[in-house]
Amino acid sequence: MIKKSVLAVTTALSLTATNAVFATPEVEVLHWWTSGGEAKSVGVLKDEFASRGGEWTDMPVAGGGGDAAMTALRARVLSGNAPTAVQLKGPAIQEWYEEGVLSDISAVAEKENWDDLLPESIASHMKCEGTWCAAPVNVHRVDWIWANAAVLAEHDIEMPTTWAEFNLAAEKLQAAGVTPLAHGGQAWQDATVFETVVLGLGGPEFFQQALVDLDEAALTSDTMVQVFDQMRIMRGFVDDNFPGRDWNLATAMVINGEAGFQIMGDWAKGEFLAAGKTPGTDFLCASTPGDGFLYNVDSFAMFDVRGSDKEEGQMLLAELIMGQNFQKVFNLNKGSIPARTDVALDDFDSCALTSSNEMAASAEGGSLLPSYAHGMALRGAQSGAITDVVTAHFNSDMSSQDAVQMLATAVKNSM
Ligand code: GAL
Repeated sequence: MIKKSVLAVTTALSLTATNAVFATPEVEVLHWWTSGGEAKSVGVLKDEFASRGGEWTDMPVAGGGGDAAMTALRARVLSGNAPTAVQLKGPAIQEWYEEGVLSDISAVAEKENWDDLLPESIASHMKCEGTWCAAPVNVHRVDWIWANAAVLAEHDIEMPTTWAEFNLAAEKLQAAGVTPLAHGGQAWQDATVFETVVLGLGGPEFFQQALVDLDEAALTSDTMVQVFDQMRIMRGFVDDNFPGRDWNLATAMVINGEAGFQIMGDWAKGEFLAAGKTPGTDFLCASTPGDGFLYNVDSFAMFDVRGSDKEEGQMLLAELIMGQNFQKVFNLNKGSIPARTDVALDDFDSCALTSSNEMAASAEGGSLLPSYAHGMALRGAQSGAITDVVTAHFNSDMSSQDAVQMLATAVKNSM
């Protein structure tokens, strides 16, 4: 009798031990990295995960900027079937944390000393009430202009350093039958261009007041009127087929020489590189006119799921994401720079080095700012309210005065 129960207990214990040791780490990863450059980048993570014995189930939801992915996420969580790992960033991390559905990944973060490896500004986005709730992969810069080098040379155009220069260059291209601005008419792309104009025309302090602090005086100011005036001018620089176009197809227009410029974050560089193009020779990068740096940090949050295979998968994924080699290879493909501060940038190109240097300088000068268009500055309700107005203005003949009034009202109603 006694022997039997000892045997039963021993068997149970060894079974538990076996399960713990041999559970295959599993993840189901929801992300929106489906363009050429993006898919190549996320492939680096898939391969590393597999080489550590993990099983990766892909849940890609196409749609730049992630709006569709976030809708899919909400549906999965509401149906009680959250994916294990989700591409999630900025205040949305906190919003999901408040819903009580995120896992705590502090054990990995503390073991791997993330506090020592990340700048404070990035680490703070990854923490929820002092615990680690997300792992960062990169720093994307949003305020970039990309150009086809041959097209600019052919028309004797330099990279613009002011918005007035940009307008002149665009007019010149237009007169020569080249589409000046490759753009896709999707709300998040309109918002991306808009925030670079806010930063450029208003300056970093104005950007902070208007798009981070949501200060009513800034939202209705003459400066904001000028921003909408510039948006109206830029509406005249896009081609007729722009509605609904994906951002990477807009990048392809610059790659092919069909268009001169694109204003887009440096994930666009991932497309140029995937097409075999070289910065400085085939394409040019420059920050959009004006001071400051708009950052967009991609990260992954783990959702609360049961089962040792899934939990191990989450911990492994978190560890790999912050791995030194992964941060290098992934970002070489993605167009961004590593979130970790100790990754050598020797193999990175001139655009990445500019990004890294200007990020450091702007952090010191107080002009390192979160991108509103990419969900780093505001909660969803507020950023959505702003984007609705920006896109309504861009796609109609609304006056700039009406736009600023509408903006202030929309922001107030979203609070
Ligand atoms: C951004 C994201 C980037 C890039 C881009 C286009 O929001 O941070 O990594 O993928 O969307 O899809």
